[in-house]
Amino acid sequence: MKRVLSGIQPTGEIHIGNWLGAIVNYVELGRKLGREALYCIVDYHAMTNPLAYEKELLAQRTFEAALVNIAAGLDPEKVTLFVQSHVPEHTELSWVFTNITPVGDLQRMTQYKDKAAKLESVGAGLLMYPVLQAADILIYKADTVPVGEDQIQHLELSREIARRFNTLFGETFPEPTAYLNPDAPRVPGIDGKAKMSKSTGNTIGLLEDPQSVWEKIRLLPDDPARIRLADPGDPERSVVFKFLPYFAPKEMVEVLKEEHRRAGIGTLAIKQILFDQYMKATRPIRERAEWLRQNPEYVLDGLEDGARRARQIAQATMQEVREKIGL
Ligand code: ADP
Ligand code: NA
Repeated sequence: MKRVLSGIQPTGEIHIGNWLGAIVNYVELGRKLGREALYCIVDYHAMTNPLAYEKELLAQRTFEAALVNIAAGLDPEKVTLFVQSHVPEHTELSWVFTNITPVGDLQRMTQYKDKAAKLESVGAGLLMYPVLQAADILIYKADTVPVGEDQIQHLELSREIARRFNTLFGETFPEPTAYLNPDAPRVPGIDGKAKMSKSTGNTIGLLEDPQSVWEKIRLLPDDPARIRLADPGDPERSVVFKFLPYFAPKEMVEVLKEEHRRAGIGTLAIKQILFDQYMKATRPIRERAEWLRQNPEYVLDGLEDGARRARQIAQATMQEVREKIGL
């Protein structure tokens, strides 16, 4: 059985960019690609950046990430959802890979350079991040990895590691290929910038407090030429209209665009509609999340079961690797 593997950062604060750009597609991805789907919450990766890692919060964030993804539709009975540190073979394989990866290749990674530039002292873990990532993928012999464009370079390194291992020790790993989902939108920020991102702080949360979401929507920039209600607007220049299609039906968007162009509706009224549609779209997720909070054992059992299934595969791979490297 071919496999697809996705890494999920351990954060409960998921924004609508993560949701629409990643999670929505995860839900269907395994089926669509005809592959067994594994979703790994990468808690060991979270240790590599001292600016983001807080030991008091890690377990809670990992639980939250599982909860939010399950609430958003990832069904732990259909997919293998698990926590990286529950399957110690990831770190074991990463050590093996460390020895066949040139330090120079790691130092050239742009994410490493960006993150290291912000630190006074750079831990070796930050440099090794893509090696652990290669192990996350290859321990399951996953051949397909859904990634954002910012992860292409890391995936290329995973391919090189697989190639090098196969050359040195015999054919073992497939070279995983990136899957860039053609249907996944890139959601802009509430400031109108090209990308919503938690590092920029220009986000709307998937489960954010409704009052706080309304405050953000209320302040979304409209077409700057539209100052009074009577001014006709250009929906293409309005940030409000960038978000509306994510939540409102197409016909509704078309009608509102037309009204906007002929100054038939005020900006605040459009924002109210956007907010209502956002709430309508996220309400089932909010309700499931609330239910999961009341029933945390559903999440924990799902993770335990996921780790058990993942570990079976990981242990078999690790046994093969040990034999091949001479242990
Ligand atoms: P952030 O940029 O907020 O730190 P991450 O890097 O943790 O988000 O991304 C998690 C997943 O969500 C990735 O698959 C990424 O491609 C996707 N993603 C993040 N931001 C957006 C966005 N604005 N639009 C679409 N997808 C996004
Ligand atoms: Na990012």
